[in-house]
Amino acid sequence: MVVLKKTKKTYYVTTPIYYVNDKPHLGHAYTSLASDVLARYHKLIGLDVFFLTGTDEHGQKIEEAARVAGKNPREFVDEMSKAFREILPKLNIENNYFIRTTDKKHEKTVAEIYQKLFEKGDLYKGKYRGKYCVSCESFYTEAQIENNRCPACGKELRIVEEETYFFRLSKYQNKLLKYIREHPDFILPVEKKNEVVAFVKQGLQDLSVSRASFDWGVRLPFDRKHISYVWIDALSNYITALDYSPKHPGKKFRKYWPAVHVVGKDILRFHAIYWPAILFALGIKLPKTIFAHGWWTVDGEKMSKSKGNFVRPIQLTERYGVDALRYFLFREVPFGNDGDFSEKGLVRRINNELGNELGNLLQRYLTMVEKYSNSRIPKISKQYLKKEIQKTIKDYEKAFSRYALHEALGVVFKLLAKTNKLINDKKPWELAKKNPKKLEVLLSSVANILSVVSFLLFPFIPSSSEKILRQLGYKGKTDDKGFELAKKFKLVKKNQKIGRKEILFPRVEFREKTKKEKEGEILKTNLKTNLNLISFEDFQKIDLRVAKVISAERVANSEKLIRLGIKADRKRTIVAGIYPYYRPEELVGKNIVIVANLEPRMVRGIKSEGMLLAAGEKIPKLVFVDKNVKEGEIVR
Ligand code: MSP
Repeated sequence: MVVLKKTKKTYYVTTPIYYVNDKPHLGHAYTSLASDVLARYHKLIGLDVFFLTGTDEHGQKIEEAARVAGKNPREFVDEMSKAFREILPKLNIENNYFIRTTDKKHEKTVAEIYQKLFEKGDLYKGKYRGKYCVSCESFYTEAQIENNRCPACGKELRIVEEETYFFRLSKYQNKLLKYIREHPDFILPVEKKNEVVAFVKQGLQDLSVSRASFDWGVRLPFDRKHISYVWIDALSNYITALDYSPKHPGKKFRKYWPAVHVVGKDILRFHAIYWPAILFALGIKLPKTIFAHGWWTVDGEKMSKSKGNFVRPIQLTERYGVDALRYFLFREVPFGNDGDFSEKGLVRRINNELGNELGNLLQRYLTMVEKYSNSRIPKISKQYLKKEIQKTIKDYEKAFSRYALHEALGVVFKLLAKTNKLINDKKPWELAKKNPKKLEVLLSSVANILSVVSFLLFPFIPSSSEKILRQLGYKGKTDDKGFELAKKFKLVKKNQKIGRKEILFPRVEFREKTKKEKEGEILKTNLKTNLNLISFEDFQKIDLRVAKVISAERVANSEKLIRLGIKADRKRTIVAGIYPYYRPEELVGKNIVIVANLEPRMVRGIKSEGMLLAAGEKIPKLVFVDKNVKEGEIVR
């Protein structure tokens, strides 16, 4: 007899892979936590889940960040990627795999993917001149640009021209529009889908996907001068992690693909336009859903280096616990919308909802069982609030199917409110004297409700849910089988002895920081970053001098570097990253200010002796000095 093994349905969920030029902050944690909530929920309903996260480590931006940190790129990405990997268990995130784009296996497959696209005729060599955002590593068309700013991140755009391979994105425009039309769940939420459709309808331009001007990436097998330019490299992680290769798709790929991609709204376009087109070209099914969530601000402001207001998730979890943060993020803001984070709001939800509605209910219940029932839960077939419980489960599942995570939490807390009310209305202290049978029904009913609620909350607050179940005396697993038992009111056994009581969410206090403390913090971050105070003696060590620019030319194969021949106290060469803000020819003859006694360093094989003074974080403006001042004069 052939025994057919029942195979479970699968579910594949991914986070974006994180750039390693930054340390994990609240925004990164949010994307990963959302994916973890989805992964845990789908495990609970019996699916075989694969959950992927990782780091995006190639590209010019990373190469530059490594240089600024004084490290070689390899050393730098190893260190930074570790920070992203180590934060996962601290946030109770249970991923199945962590991919790095610098993994050998990934790099090899990316090269194969390029090869296949090339052979298919979907890559061609050309020249690109366009407005380019270094931060997002993308070119933009005039229609997308306002005030020369990147439509995605708002940073200043540069004009860049170079030889590049193009991917025939335009070829897939109509096919993509048709696909989006026919698959209503392909891009969510709907408003975000509409934005994507409008963008595609404006007309897609072919995509520049290689560079010959830097090294840190995957070399193209059919033209070794070129390096993959990061979006094909980055997006491919979703399939290379499943051991896909164009020659052998692989078992894991066949089992788990297509994916649900959770992404921030800023990178939706890459996922909902470029990625599908690449997949069309490779002959691979498109993702099941791409869900774009909103962005978090902090106390009404965007997180930024200049403000030094990055919220570090681990500082919060150390203070308030992991589950409190997980709960807050998905209760505070409808998934898909932007939100504002405030510690005050977090504290409020901990005390009012987690502490009062859930934690106190459990304590109150366990005390009743101790007092009236000898610490054992009676089991009665009658169930209070039965219809409400069933409706809650249905609404909760419906909410999940629409990614309405805040609603899923909302319906559970509504049931908790009803349960608290039930206990108040039934007055157990009176029933104990007058009607012990009814009291047994109440105790049995509330145990069943709490067991169902624990499972419903499990995707959001896994360790607290387990604590509730342990306190109810349940010793089994928090898996799909346990969930099935709970839904049938069979999880709590007759006369089950309750476990040791433990307060779930102790009250927390919020103290508004004083103005002085806030200023102190800003000063501390500034000191750590760029406003380090130095003594007058130290200042006197800096040799600032007027220098005349004698010659200026661009450094070959570089987007920003200009080589300046200058004369200050003596003639020397300085290499500066000021193209395209300054054209070489406009600098010749000008008087500038340099740091004359800076240690020389090698830049692209050129010995650079000194540094120019310039102001402005985004667009450097050189400090010019009147022509009448003689070169070599000391600046004081
Ligand atoms: N490396 C690319 C993604 C490549 S995926 C093939 C990238 N990395 S990132 O580190 O910049 O961003 C990763 C995720 O963090 C994105 O989903 C982004 O939306 C999210 N967040 C970064 N800051 C955020 C907030 N302030 N709020 C919410 N999420 C935000 O993009």
